[in-house]
Amino acid sequence: MSGWRRRIAVTGGCGFIGGAYLRQMVPRHPEDLYVNIDALTYAASPERVAAVAHEGNYVFERVDIRDTKAVVECLGRHSITDVVHFAAESHNDRAILTPLRFVETNVVGTANLLESWRVVAKGSGGRFHHISTDEVYGSLPIEGGEGFTESTPYDPSSPYSASKAAADHLVRAWHRTFGLDVVITNCSNNFGPFQFPEKLLPVMISNALSGRRLPVYGDGMNVRDWIHVEDHCDALDLVLRQGRAGRTYNIGADCEIPNITLVTMLCEIIDQREGPLPGGRSRASLIEFVPDRPGHDRRYAIDASRIREELGWSPRHEFRQALEDTVDWYRTHRAWVENCQKSDEFRAYAERNYGERSGDVS
Ligand code: NAD
Ligand code: TYD
Repeated sequence: MSGWRRRIAVTGGCGFIGGAYLRQMVPRHPEDLYVNIDALTYAASPERVAAVAHEGNYVFERVDIRDTKAVVECLGRHSITDVVHFAAESHNDRAILTPLRFVETNVVGTANLLESWRVVAKGSGGRFHHISTDEVYGSLPIEGGEGFTESTPYDPSSPYSASKAAADHLVRAWHRTFGLDVVITNCSNNFGPFQFPEKLLPVMISNALSGRRLPVYGDGMNVRDWIHVEDHCDALDLVLRQGRAGRTYNIGADCEIPNITLVTMLCEIIDQREGPLPGGRSRASLIEFVPDRPGHDRRYAIDASRIREELGWSPRHEFRQALEDTVDWYRTHRAWVENCQKSDEFRAYAERNYGERSGDVS
């Protein structure tokens, strides 16, 4: 029970960002205990936390955040002080196929976790940190329009972003009503190692490495604002420890790129490393424009002035170098990607998502 400065429950720690967070924080804060609470859905990979699994300040618990009894028991048994809440259904294309699953996990699961923590951690002096997305703000026009600030009105377009917006509102309500110490961070699109091969970068890199087609939705001019996952996690560490109670912080690295430009850059990087395709063709010849995603937001962009000015955060990764390193990570971890793709669950998803777009990714 005693000895640790904080006893932090990290939900979704076997996910892409939660795993990166634990790989960074467990060695950085040996005075804190990290309890990874994860239900191990299709999106989980224990390999993401293999590097810290044997550390003395790390524990894993297989618990579903929708299960009140199990959550209360787990938080109580570890005398949890703080919660850093990553666990979610996170992929927009899946939210179109199974929207209610997103409401159950992202909305009901978050309410359940909040309420369980309110009861169990009363008086611990801890904090609830909700990890959210810039997608709650909706879509910006392609030209003009400043980036999202913390006072931009919520205007979500998809079942995923609406469920995350609902969760943000719940967290704020528990702050105002019950006086809980909460912080919310809304971050832009992450990239880096161990991202599940259903998101843009890993789909494009793994398909390009295997000579398969590169399915770009719509006209490819949708803009995303990219940040390396380690820069996001550094920002999260600052917000948990130094952010103001009840406050929201937007996180982004000023890196807006149209999808087609990014996919073309990836093709160039892979051609340089692997040589051209048979016949001397560039991998850019694999690009295929496919029917658009319904409700596809045109542009996201983050104004991160608040976290830069108040907490002194800035990203340390240079985009082009980080992109090349990410490509190299996928080149040397093809078995991990293939393992993610081999389940019946993944194949069924890929068939439904891309089948209707006339092709396949598996
Ligand atoms: P991910 O899909 O890679 O991982 C989600 C993890 O949560 C998995 O390990 C899964 O097993 C776990 N999980 C899902 N349902 C659960 C449940 N009911 N109980 C317990 N565990 C459960 O997600 P990610 O990309 O790492 O995103 C993490 C968080 O960051 C999410 O809340 C997401 O909304 C947010 N976010 C993601 C991005 C991005 O670019 N990926 C950007 C901004 C914010
Ligand atoms: P994604 O990685 O799913 O993240 P998000 O929906 O949270 O932004 O998609 C990033 C962008 O890439 C988005 O504009 C949709 C587009 N996209 C494609 O064009 N093709 C694909 O196969 C995927 C997965 C995404």
